[in-house]
Order: sequence, then C-alpha cells, then structure tokens
Amino acid sequence: MGKGVTLPKWLVIAACIIFVGGMVAVGLCVYYLAPPPPGSEVTTDTTSTVTETTTQTDMTTTTLRPPGDINYRLPRHFSPILYTVRLLPIIEEGNFTIFGDVTIDMVCNENTNHIVLHINDMDVHQETIKVSGEGLEGMMVHHTSFDQITQFFTIHLSGELKAGMQLSLSMSYLAKLNDILGGFYRSSYFDVNGNRRYIATTQFQPTDARRAFPCFDEPNFKARFAITLGRKKDMTSISNMPINRTVPHENMPDYEWDIYEESVPMSTYLVAFVISDFVKNPAPNAGETEVAVWSRPGAEEQTRYATNITSTVLEYFEEFFQIPYPLPKQDMIAIPDFGAGAMENWGLITYRETAVLYQPGVSSAQNKQRVAVVIAHELAHQWFGNLVTTDWWDLLWLNEGFATYLEFKGVDRVEPEMKMEQQYLNDAIHYVMQLDGLNSSHPMIMPANNPDEINELFDPIAYEKSGSVLRMMEDFLGLEVLKEGLTNYLNNRTYDTATADVLWEFLGDTATKYSVDLNGLTVKDILDTWSLQKNFPVVKVERNPENYTEITVSQKRFISAQFEGAEEYYWHVPLTFIQDFSNNSSLKRRWLSNSSEPAVYTDIIDEPNSWIICNHKVFGYYRVDYDEINWDLIQVQLQTNHTKIDVMNRAQIVDDALNLASADYLNQTYKRAMDLTSYLKNEFDWLPWETADNNFDRLRNLLSGTEAGALLNDHIRSLALHLYELYDFNEDPMDKHLDLFLRTIAVRIACGTNFAPCVEKAKENFINWSADPDNAELISPNLKPTITCTAMREGDVKEFDFLVRRYNSTNVAAEKDQLLSAMMCTDDIILLRRLLEWSITDGSPIRKQDAVFVYRGMATNQIGKTLALGFIQDNWEQIASYTGGYLTATEWIQSVSRYYNKQSELDELIRLKEEKAPQLGTVRTLDQAIEQVTANVQWLEKHYQTIHNWLRNNSGNPVKN
Ligand code: BES
Ligand code: ZN
Repeated sequence: MGKGVTLPKWLVIAACIIFVGGMVAVGLCVYYLAPPPPGSEVTTDTTSTVTETTTQTDMTTTTLRPPGDINYRLPRHFSPILYTVRLLPIIEEGNFTIFGDVTIDMVCNENTNHIVLHINDMDVHQETIKVSGEGLEGMMVHHTSFDQITQFFTIHLSGELKAGMQLSLSMSYLAKLNDILGGFYRSSYFDVNGNRRYIATTQFQPTDARRAFPCFDEPNFKARFAITLGRKKDMTSISNMPINRTVPHENMPDYEWDIYEESVPMSTYLVAFVISDFVKNPAPNAGETEVAVWSRPGAEEQTRYATNITSTVLEYFEEFFQIPYPLPKQDMIAIPDFGAGAMENWGLITYRETAVLYQPGVSSAQNKQRVAVVIAHELAHQWFGNLVTTDWWDLLWLNEGFATYLEFKGVDRVEPEMKMEQQYLNDAIHYVMQLDGLNSSHPMIMPANNPDEINELFDPIAYEKSGSVLRMMEDFLGLEVLKEGLTNYLNNRTYDTATADVLWEFLGDTATKYSVDLNGLTVKDILDTWSLQKNFPVVKVERNPENYTEITVSQKRFISAQFEGAEEYYWHVPLTFIQDFSNNSSLKRRWLSNSSEPAVYTDIIDEPNSWIICNHKVFGYYRVDYDEINWDLIQVQLQTNHTKIDVMNRAQIVDDALNLASADYLNQTYKRAMDLTSYLKNEFDWLPWETADNNFDRLRNLLSGTEAGALLNDHIRSLALHLYELYDFNEDPMDKHLDLFLRTIAVRIACGTNFAPCVEKAKENFINWSADPDNAELISPNLKPTITCTAMREGDVKEFDFLVRRYNSTNVAAEKDQLLSAMMCTDDIILLRRLLEWSITDGSPIRKQDAVFVYRGMATNQIGKTLALGFIQDNWEQIASYTGGYLTATEWIQSVSRYYNKQSELDELIRLKEEKAPQLGTVRTLDQAIEQVTANVQWLEKHYQTIHNWLRNNSGNPVKN
C-alpha cells in the first residue's frame, strides 16, 4: 500500500474527460491542472491510498484513487425508508438545469459519525445539508467529501449517530438534464411544424439514479419514494405512481408542482419520471390496472397495437405468478432517444420507439413481434425484478433471465401464431451459444463492482443463456412445479431482494413435494453446474456398433476455438431421447452426472434400425453429437421424409452440425454438416431455414472474397430456389406470421446471392416506391430491408440520398432502422464515412441511440468493417465524451470485428486492447472480440480446403443425396 501517492496523470485526465461538465468534476479538473491551493490536505485511509483535496468552490473534498482493489459497495450503516424527492428541470435550449431537493428518512444500523451515499455529476449546496431527528438537535455537518471513482459522497458529522436512531437527511442541489441517455436526461423530437421539442426523462438502471438525486444507489437498499415534479403548465408529468394533487409553484407563475402518491418499497434503479407534451393513449380493454401508452403527438396511431395487447399480457402474468400486480396503473411511454430497448420502471415502463410503436403497413412482422416481446419482457419484470429484486448486480441473470424466459410465454398468450416456442431456439439458444462458446465467456453469476463492469453484465449470458437454462429447468421440473415454486419464492421475498440460492431452495422444496426425479441431487447441485460455470457441454451419443440397442453417452465442454490445455468442465445434464416423434410417450429421460465418466444405457433404444435424437425440442442447453451410423440414419430420414423429425429438432440438427464442424467436434467435419443441410431443398418450414440462414450468413461473411465464398453463394442460392419460387415477392393477406418470415428469408437469400430475377424485381420495386414513398401499398414492409439494400448495393449516391431523405422524413422509427441498414449496403467509401461521422455527431440525422446500428451494419460490409475500426480509433476520445464513457466504444469494436478473419486484423485488435486497457473499467468485451477473431482466423486455416472441396464436388448439384 503506497503512501502519499502521486496520481498518474492519465487518471486525472481520464477522470476530467469522463466527468467533464460535472460541476464537482470541473472544480477537480481545475484543481489538478493548477498548482495545489493552500490548505489542501493529504490523508491515507486503511484500505487504499486516497488523496483528499479541498476544492476552492465549496467545502467538499474530492478524492481520486488509483485503480486496483476498490470497494464500490456502500457501507450498511443506514437503511433508507422514504425518499422525498422534489425536482424541477428547466427544459430549455441553453439551460438544461435541474433544481433538486431530497429528504431521506432512514434508520441507523450501526454507530457512526458519517453518512455515505451516492451522487454523480451534481453540485450539492453544502449549507443546505441537514440531519434531523429525535435527539439530534445540534448535530452539525462537519465537512463532506466526494470520491470521484466510487461516486461516494460522505457527510462527516460533528457527533455520533447511534444504532436504532431514526433520522432525516436533507439537502438541495443542482444537477444537469444531460444528453447521454442516462440519469435524468433530455430527449427531443420535431413537431409537425418542424420545431424541435424537448422532453425530460429518466434511465436509472443500473447506476444512474445518483445523477438525479443523492441516494443509496444499490438494488438492496429498498425504500418508498414520494416524488414531486415541477413542470411548465403546458406540459404533463408522469412517474411510477399516480399524481395525488397539483399545486401552483410558489414563485414561478408558469410552473406547477405535481405531487405523487407514495410508492411501494422499491430499488432506486426503478424510479422513473417523464415531463413532456406527449399524448396519453389509454388501453381500451383495461382490467383492474389502468393501462396507457404515451407517445409524441403524431404517433398516436402507432400505439394501438401496444394498447391492445398490454392488459392481456399483464393479466397473464398475474395468473402465472398467482400474485396481483400491486400498483393502480401501468403507464408505458415511447421515448424518442433511449439507450436500451426498454426499461421496466415500476408503473412507468419506458421504451425506445421501435420497441413499442407499430404502424401497420410500414412496420414489419418482425417489428410487430419485437413490440410484443419487449412489452411481455418488461411486464414480467414487474414481478421478477421489481417485486423481488436481485440482491446485487452479480445476480443480474435472475432479473433478466426470468424476463427473457417469460417474455415468450407472455407473447404466446396474445399471439399464438407467432409460435414463440420455436422462436426461442434461434433468438435465444442458438444466438447465445455463439458467445458462450468462447473461453472468454463468463458464468451467469459474475462478480461486478464498478459501473462499467455492471453495465457489461447486460449481455446475452444474463438474458438468453439464463433464459435457456430456466427453460431447461421447466422441462425437468415440470411447468406446474416450477410455477408453484416461483410463486412461493416471490411471496416469501416480496418487496425484498433474493439470491439464486433462495430460489433453488423454494424450487427444491416444491420438487420434493411432487417427487420430481432429480437423480438424488438438489436443485442447487444441478443449477450450480449451469450458473457457476461458463460455456455448455456437447453431449455425445454413441451406439454400440455390435449391439445397436446400447448407447454410451458422454459430455465434453464446447469451445468454438479449441486449444491445448483447456480445462474440462462437467454439468448435470438432463437428457431426453426420442426415436419416434409421432408418439411422445416414447420420450425417455435420464440424468448424466457431472463427470468425465460416460453413461451406458441399454433401455433407451426401442427400434435398433432407426435413428435416435437426443434433446427433444432443445429444452436442454447443450449441443449433441452422434456416432457415424446414427448421423447416417438421421441424414437418410431428413432426405426421405424430414417431417418425421420435429421442426425444432431439425433446426437443432442444422445448428449443431454446422457448429460442431466449425469447432472440430464432428468426425466428418464440414462434409457431414454440408451433406446434412442439403436436405433443406425440401424444407418449407420457417425455423430450420432461419437457423440455416443465420449459419450460412456467418459462413458467407467469413469466406467473402474467396473462391469458396462464390461457390457457397451458388450452393445456398440453389438450396433456396424452391422456396423463392414458392414465395416470390407476393404477399397475401391470408399469410400467417411465419409465412411472412419465411418469404423474407427466401427473398433475402435470393437477392443476397445475386439471383438475377430477384435483383431485377427489387430494383423495380424500389423505383416504384421511391417515386411515391408515402404510398405504403407500393412496398411490403417485410421485404423493404432486402429491396432497399439491393437497390443501394446496385446504386450510388442517388439511392443513398433518397434513403437519407426518407430517413429524415418518416414518422415511423421502425422504418428508420430499416433505411439505415439499407444505407450500409453501399460500397462507396465516402458514403460509409459519412455514416460513421453521423454516428458520433450531435444533431446529425442519426440519433445517439442508433449509433450502434452503424457499427453492427458495418460488420457485414467488406469496406465498412475496416473503415469503422480505424474510425473508432481516430475518434476515441470524442466517442467517449459523446456516449458518456469508453464502454460503448468497446462494444462498437466487438460489433464491427465479428467477421474479421485476417491475422493482421487480429494483431490490430490486440494492439488496441493493450493501448486502451488503462482507460477501461473492464476489458472483457475486447477479450471476447479478440477471441472471436482468433477463432475466425483459425477457422479459415482449418476448414477452407474441406469446404472448398465439398462445394466443388457438389456445385451445380447440391440436391444430390
Ligand atoms: N432492464 C432492462 C433495461 C436495461 C438494459 C437497463 C441495459 C440497463 C442496461 C430491460 O428490462 C431490458 O432487458 N430491455 C431489453 C429488451 C428486452 C426485450 C430484451 C433491451 O433493452 O434490449
Ligand atoms: Zn429486462
């Protein structure tokens, strides 16, 4: 532990950049960049080296610590009971200031002479800080200190507070209505007259409530909130609870105060409020709970779908959990600038426009599904997350995994035609397995301390992996057992927090009550192997070549780029086997224990000459490999009558075969996988095609520019030809949801692989539509992404300019997303550069919230992907200040580098990580990007020849059996 340490300059400068604009921070920066003022004190605390300095502006001392072992958790000396928060934001260009007062009623748990709580980017008026309560007369504030790194604000008192005391802490402060999409921030839109109108809104999860009011900003400090919002008379405000009453402002005649009902006990990250001139669109079929969707004027019609489905989904969850929704109302609002997709604030769910608004004829079927999914997800959180909250962010998966698992059930209630069970396979399981196949993946339960680490946890592991593991649990416990266990758990922990172990206990008790077979293990024994270890197993099922009725089952850790010395992990795997899909009673269940020992079963196979498939409907979160003979039997079945195998298992076979081949687990490598997937020429179900399309896309990107890449295009095109001929561009009003999806795939493959009739039709369609773009009849919203991308690819600046004009003028956010993707289909370097510039420029056509799409889109653009990385490096500091930190830049790097496959690109990423690491709160995202590119480079070396050979032998005749 060093003493009297001198701060490294980078730290000071980095802190100044990150917090620039913060009033406390400005003082700090001024201080550090100038000679020390007289009277500055230097002290050392016991845990880490601390430099305390007194700024000249007020009596706050500000602390910076060197990185290392920093404790980011607040001391537990106090429990807040009630926050009385009064906020008045000035929402005017040139003056985005917030006047705030807070009073926190709390109990003291341990004797202490100081109070530590969070603030960020605000200026507390020292003289207003008061501590009051019985026996506290004469208690004074001695001084305060602020730790820039931990965002701890410490109030040092003149005397001691004793355990058991009740007290109130109050203070006034100035904060900023910022533009970084976090805390209390501003968003804007253009009204019908072209005037820019601002609104004030919040996003607190995970660590930004502290930007709006001083608070104990950790999920397990639950308290009630009594909010008062000041606003201009011509605006309205909404918050978690209904308004109790409105009173005039004492001395601002244009303003009023909206005083809200006191909330139920909840975590700070769930507090929300919005001040706007938005329109309230009430739900027509509201039940007990009053439901409304708020939108900017002009978008009312687009709220209809959301208002129609929300009450039903809410009631579904009430029924599912057997616990009524506890608040009197559920507002939802479409915010024009919103960083995430949506946020489950209790009673006031905030959404990005594309996640809640739906315009028939302009939004696609995919957009509609997205709206249903996001609504269901956020409503599920009202129980899982809001009523019972994770104790700390390391258990984020408990919130997000459950919401992900349940969102599919919620949608199923209102839109059975969307076949959400099938959608789960691609959207969740196959999607996350790409990431979770990396050695740099992480377990579901993952320590996180600083805000960057906490933010990084909101990744596919917390969402899709956790959701998949829960779905697996549903299958081995049984849905009814799971539901009963969950209800007990929620009832027991209502208005409180919980850990995974508490959940396992409740589920275990219910499993015991119903005598569920858990192989003699507890729920915790089983789930620990899935939640405490990263990655997932490949289960290998091998038939005894002498005796076809005996099978040997073993497991191995799956890693997409296997390497020498990789540690082995083992799981308790719930196995299911099926031989005949027409008869569910032939489904057999077994447990595979967490060891390297294979299990031998002689009582699984009924039909020695028939195939066996393991992992029925892919309830299990694992991949399956077989011996040669069984693969042969499956292949023959697929080629003769594929419908004998369940559609989900057909998709499983496609995904497992291609990914096992890619990672070198499959004996015959790509030959086997390509042979198997050739059955697709006869496939007319959406799910296997969606799976194949995702996998082929990846292959095409990795092979792009090579000879094999060209042959692969031909192969895929001919596989999909029947499909394209069947579906063509002709939408029918009678089409079902998945028909719309399948046509979209057929057209995307046909045009994407340059099938001339498709390309011609797309160009023609584009010309017609661009002549009359308000006429929704002229173009299908489902085919628009392909049509516009194809026209852009074949076109030049003329098409680009049209897309930009339409992008700026459309009233539908979903259409904007489609158009932006289409712009990225250009190969004009000047235009691509323009998009990159727009992604980091305030006031450009591209909103800050959408910048990430530019980087995702560039990944599949052969020119754009290289351009983008250079651009991020050249503009590193600007990106950090534009987005509010360095984390976003690392996410953009991960996005653009997905399909890098050259050693030089890998070297560049490694160099970049080394250069930037000192600035970053976490480097996991960069590590994942590096490992993915390593895997890509190895993949090309290892498999190019096999794929090339296979394609050469089969080209022109991919339908050969
Ligand atoms: N709690 C999250 C919102 C969130 C995400 C806050 C990241 C902070 C950081 C919300 O419930 C959520 O998960 N939203 C998803 C949409 C959902 C349908 C998967 C999102 O924002 O993408
Ligand atoms: Zn969520």
